[in-house]
Amino acid sequence: MIELVAHSEAMREAVRLAGRVATTDANVLVTGESGAGKDALALYIHRESKRAAGSFVKIDCAALPAELLEAELFGYERGAFTGAQESKPGRLEAAHKGTLVLDEIAHLSTDAQAKLLRVIERREFERLGGRRTVKVDARLIALTNVDLDEAVRRRAFRPDLFYRLNVVRIHVPPLRERREDVRKLARGFLKTYAAKHGRRALRIEPAALQMLETYDFPGNVRELAHVLERAVIVADGERVEVEHLPESVRAAASLQRRREARMTLAELEAAYIAETLVAARGNKSEAARLLGISRKNLYEKLARQKGNDEG
Ligand SMILES: Nc1ncnc2c1ncn2[C@@H]1O[C@H](COP(=O)(O)OP(=O)(O)O)[C@@H](O)[C@H]1O
Ligand SMILES: [Mg+2]
Repeated sequence: MIELVAHSEAMREAVRLAGRVATTDANVLVTGESGAGKDALALYIHRESKRAAGSFVKIDCAALPAELLEAELFGYERGAFTGAQESKPGRLEAAHKGTLVLDEIAHLSTDAQAKLLRVIERREFERLGGRRTVKVDARLIALTNVDLDEAVRRRAFRPDLFYRLNVVRIHVPPLRERREDVRKLARGFLKTYAAKHGRRALRIEPAALQMLETYDFPGNVRELAHVLERAVIVADGERVEVEHLPESVRAAASLQRRREARMTLAELEAAYIAETLVAARGNKSEAARLLGISRKNLYEKLARQKGNDEG
């Protein structure tokens, strides 16, 4: 992983807290939207902790059906279920002396929640179908992008387990709430992806950077990374320019400008039609198709605009 960027005060605060909790063995609950950097922060905690030499193990609680997830987490003995031809240790055992990250913890089944609670309270468990009790010493870091307090209120998540996981809670703010991080993140990703794709390191044009700094990034840091990987691939010169940013980012920026200019709906429509005509290289049939209207309708709209301009 590239170095964890924390330039904004909000992110610095999260990393400070992570650094403090790293020196203890406390369980941690990391909250934040998808792509905001929960995994990245969990890895940071592991690396800063005295468990850094131990393994960093991850399990995604949303990725597998309940039974398979339990088998993956707790391991199983031969014959525990059909298909269990060999005994296999689970991720918990793999995380002994290290850190276990439970991604999307809200998806954990009731059964697995009970077993995990016992792991926390007694530091022991049995593999599925096993009678031997296994001792385990692992720090747990739970990640969630949904409101776990609300899941507890709905009785979808055990309160006792919640309190055990929520000893320290760290929130990773969405990227749109810490736009100061965009520049540094963007530069880091440009370097990473230039190396990956065998390109020279690219510089980013101020206009392109500004566009990124005003974009809302619904996919957060992960989306920014993708945007820059794409730019590294499509840019042919030495700089990333606005035209190398994906349509989604450019469209949002032009919409934003219009909102700021307080355009009327008619003005907005006219501007959008004009933009689409440019994108269609002046081809009106193509523009009408892109706009989802008939060619006739487009001609009518253009005629009306012309009338408005002259009137
Ligand atoms: N602060 C950061 N500095 C550098 N890279 C980051 C940062 N936050 C996230 N990333 C990168 O962005 C991508 C998505 O982050 P991730 O931790 O997987 O998000 P989440 O777990 O919240 O969905 C990963 O490639 C990660 O390395
Ligand atoms: Mg993640």
